[in-house]
Parts: sequence; structure tokens; C-alpha cells
Amino acid sequence: IKTIGVLTSGGDAPGMNAAIRAVTRAGICNGFNIKGIYRGFEGLINDDIKPFTTENVSGIIMQGGTILKTARSVEFTTEEGRQKAYNNIVKQGIDALVVIGGNGSLSGAKIFAQEFDLCCIGLPGTIDNDLYGTDSTIGYDTTMNTIVECVDRIRDTAQSHERIFFVEVMGRDAGFLAQNSAIAAGAEAAIIPEDSTDVDQLARFMERGIRKSKKSCIVIVSESPKCGALYYADRVKKEFPDYDVRVSILGHLQRGGRPTAHDRILASRTGVGAVDAILQGQRNVMIGVRNNEIVYVPLSEAIRSDKPFDKKLITVLDELSI
Ligand code: F6P
Repeated sequence: IKTIGVLTSGGDAPGMNAAIRAVTRAGICNGFNIKGIYRGFEGLINDDIKPFTTENVSGIIMQGGTILKTARSVEFTTEEGRQKAYNNIVKQGIDALVVIGGNGSLSGAKIFAQEFDLCCIGLPGTIDNDLYGTDSTIGYDTTMNTIVECVDRIRDTAQSHERIFFVEVMGRDAGFLAQNSAIAAGAEAAIIPEDSTDVDQLARFMERGIRKSKKSCIVIVSESPKCGALYYADRVKKEFPDYDVRVSILGHLQRGGRPTAHDRILASRTGVGAVDAILQGQRNVMIGVRNNEIVYVPLSEAIRSDKPFDKKLITVLDELSI
């Protein structure tokens, strides 16, 4: 292997730049040529590829977003699209591909690697923390801290007006962001896909919570197309017309901002880990960190949808929000 291509794909995540920097610098340090591929798999299909030197990645470790841009490529989901992408891989002399992204991106990498017998290494780049086999993903810690900062601010106004706030956070199908930010922000409840909390349980909680000492209350709601924060707020308003209810949907502000030290270190370690894996002849694995050790997780396992969720976190929040 002489040349490594690197791309970011799917939703951007703070720390992706630190990961691009790590792959580029560790690659060059170990004698590889590095090529930066722009706009994820779209850039492979359109041959939007440039040679990278250490200078391309200087001054980016502290920047949110991704200097390589990103996309969710529909064309890459087709065989024709992947064939075009592979033709450019050959044309550019790329022998190994590092894909920094979440579930969808690593699924794409897995199919691509299988179809063309190519060395694809994944780095866990997503705010959702939903990749199997790694304790954390690049971007998750930064986003959680952003949510906590927002909720601290919302708490000020919630207390002043004695209101109930439903705060909706991202996470796609996973409740890691919602549950852990609820604990960290001292919220009264979290509604997450991993728990079977239905709206009546929520209403009972509201009644109990309000009747006790609490006049204001924060509920973190994990996004869901069917029942997000607006849905729960509406239901509570109907059942408890006396309560002053507000909704705050944090949206994409959760994806921006300077990565935390934790995410920069995770990105740097896994980026160097990707180059190590290539040197060792590893193929088609995601580089994760488990119990503070670098681990190689087969791509097929990394994309499993059942990453363990510690149900004790639900008890922690319940017991601390009385
Ligand atoms: O996967 C990251 C993520 O931010 C999810 O939490 C969210 O559901 C989705 O991406 C939003 O995607 P988009 O930016 O395309 O609206």
C-alpha cells in the first residue's frame, strides 16, 4: 500500500478535522502518500480528489465541521455509482481508503470493500454515539457538552417563569445524547428510544414532580419523526392545562463548534490507529476505543444497530431527579 485516501461522510461531527489531520500526518510519517477526497463518496464518484501534505491539515485540530466537506451520497447507494467511485480509486492510485463517518457511511464502506476487494478502514465520526464496539464516537462528547450548556441556559428561564420545558436533542435512533445530557444537566426526565416510556408515564411523572417541590422542570426528548418534543408538549398541555409548557428544539447548533479535548484525543488516537491498522495489513475494520484501548471492530459489527445501552443510566436520572 502506497497511497491512502481519506474522506468524511454523512453528518459532520466536531473532531472530524482532528481525525483528517491525524490520518494525514501519521500516514506521511509512515511513508504513505495521502489524498483528500472532497464531499464524501460524492467526491470519489466525481473525482474530487487532491494530494494532501501536512500543510493541508495545519491549524485545523480546533475547528468544527470538516475541511473535506461532507455529503450523504445517494448515487453511491447504486452499483453504478460505486463502480464510478472505484474507477477513480484506480485512476488516483489509492490502495486504502479511510472513511470517517457514522452508521450509513461505514455501511457504504463495508459494501464497497466487499465489492472491489479494497482495504477500507472506518473511523467512528458521529455525534450520535451509535456505532457498536467503541465506547465513544468522535463528536459525541462535544455535542453532549453543547447540549448541557444550552440546557443550563434554558434552566434559568424555566425557573424564572416556573415553566416546563421539553428540549429536543439529536441522536437519530439512539438515546445516548438525550440520556447522558439529561444526567449532566440535572434534567428531571429523558424520553429515549431505548426506554419504553410512553406518554402516560410521562404525564404521571409530571404530576408527581410538580406536586412535590418542583415548579419548573426540564425534559430532554430524543428526536423522533413521530413523537418529538412538540408531541409530548402538546399532550401535557392537554392533560394539564394549568402548566406553562414550552418547547426548545436545539437542532443543528448541536453539530457545530470547537471539539472538546476528549474528541480531539479520540480523533487523534483513532486516526493514528487507522494508519497502524493499514501497516499491520488489517482490512475492513473500524478503529474504536474500548476501555481506553484501541480496538479493531469489523465494519459489519460496527454498524450493528444494537449498541448496548446501560439501563442503569435511567435509574441514575430517576433517582437524582426526585
Ligand atoms: O447522524 C447525525 C445527525 O445529526 C442525527 O443526529 C440527525 O438525526 C441527523 O444527523 C440530521 O441530519 P441532517 O443534517 O442531514 O438533517
